[in-house]
Amino acid sequence: MSEFAPGQVFADKFRIIRPLGAGGIGSVYEVEHLFTRHKRALKVLHPELRHDPETVKRFLREAMAAGVIQSEHIVQSLDAGMHGDIPWLLMEMLDGQSLGACLRFTPRLRVPDAIHLCIELTGILGKTHAVGVVHRDLKPENVFVLDTTDTLFLKVLDFGLSRFSPSLGVSGLTAPGSRMGTPLYMAPEQMMGKDSSSPALDLFAVGVMLYETLAGGVPYAGQTWNELMLQKSNEAFAPLRQVRPEVPAELERLTQRLLSVNPTWRPSADETRAELQSLLEKDRRTRWWLGEQSEVTETAGQALAAADTVTPPLRSPTSSPQGALLAKTDPPSISEDRPWLDRLKPFSKLSLVENVFWVAVFAAVLGLGVFMIWWIE
Ligand SMILES: Nc1ncnc2c1ncn2[C@@H]1O[C@H](COP(=O)(O)OP(=O)(O)O)[C@@H](O)[C@H]1O
Ligand SMILES: [Mg+2]
Repeated sequence: MSEFAPGQVFADKFRIIRPLGAGGIGSVYEVEHLFTRHKRALKVLHPELRHDPETVKRFLREAMAAGVIQSEHIVQSLDAGMHGDIPWLLMEMLDGQSLGACLRFTPRLRVPDAIHLCIELTGILGKTHAVGVVHRDLKPENVFVLDTTDTLFLKVLDFGLSRFSPSLGVSGLTAPGSRMGTPLYMAPEQMMGKDSSSPALDLFAVGVMLYETLAGGVPYAGQTWNELMLQKSNEAFAPLRQVRPEVPAELERLTQRLLSVNPTWRPSADETRAELQSLLEKDRRTRWWLGEQSEVTETAGQALAAADTVTPPLRSPTSSPQGALLAKTDPPSISEDRPWLDRLKPFSKLSLVENVFWVAVFAAVLGLGVFMIWWIE
């Protein structure tokens, strides 16, 4: 039940249009600015958290993330303040839906789409970490898939739990309770309450998301905090290729490194991105040799558009990129028909035979031509 009803005016300035979503910290509404008529997203802290000054400070500090990181892939904060005892944050209104919503609709993405998604995400994280910010609460609900026409465009939301490096001059706050955030995506050291602000925390979450989008579910079966912490500490998850055999071995190894219990074994955002890109590059070269059009090196949006025309979306309710992202997702029966790994192999046996055959035919024709010329002369 939303605290504010559509039509209600908040802080004499914003007319509530509809609720957009809610998380552990606040509720977000689409609002119209009464004077400028701009559509914005307004986030207000949950009522039960308003009495805690530390949480209020942390909530308002979220507004700084976009200014510090300076990236179009971070949701832009436009204003923040207090209305009575209600802390509020005004953001640009994003058109689209969270990755969490996309994955609830279709939990398993095609391998190239999962890679694309992860390349985009680690690109944003590389920038975020480079300026000294660690998100600390990365999860599909905090990654927004924009409703753009042709490319996959992500925005990272919700810097309420993030850590800013002291060099940024942002006043330090005590560490949030170790149990804040979402246990499924939390690194083991974070679950154990260690006051870590290492970028490796975010890379663990990337590992969970990469595994999830490929396997169709998170790597851990634990239902309670302690079960999850134990499983993460023991790296107890099914190997990715056991769940999804067409996943390339390199991708499985990368996911394992991201999910390492030891944070120093996890690759950085930039390393992860580079490895994923080289996987795509390898695929592109293979396809060039085979004379095939590369699917995985297209931008996700373009590939999605193509997928819409080639294979009608089976379960997508919309032609938006999210819908297309979903449309591109292989339903199990189709994915079994088009194992992606086959396309990654340098040459399939058949194409090698084909290649040798056509080279032999070409040599024979050439030889015959030379012989004919010699004969005529
Ligand atoms: N700027 C925005 N535009 C559109 N929807 C948004 C925006 N910000 C948040 N949302 C929606 O509201 C949900 C909760 O927002 P979030 O900032 O993650 O709250 P919390 O900090 O409580 O987790 C998000 O998952 C998203 O669906
Ligand atoms: Mg959130």
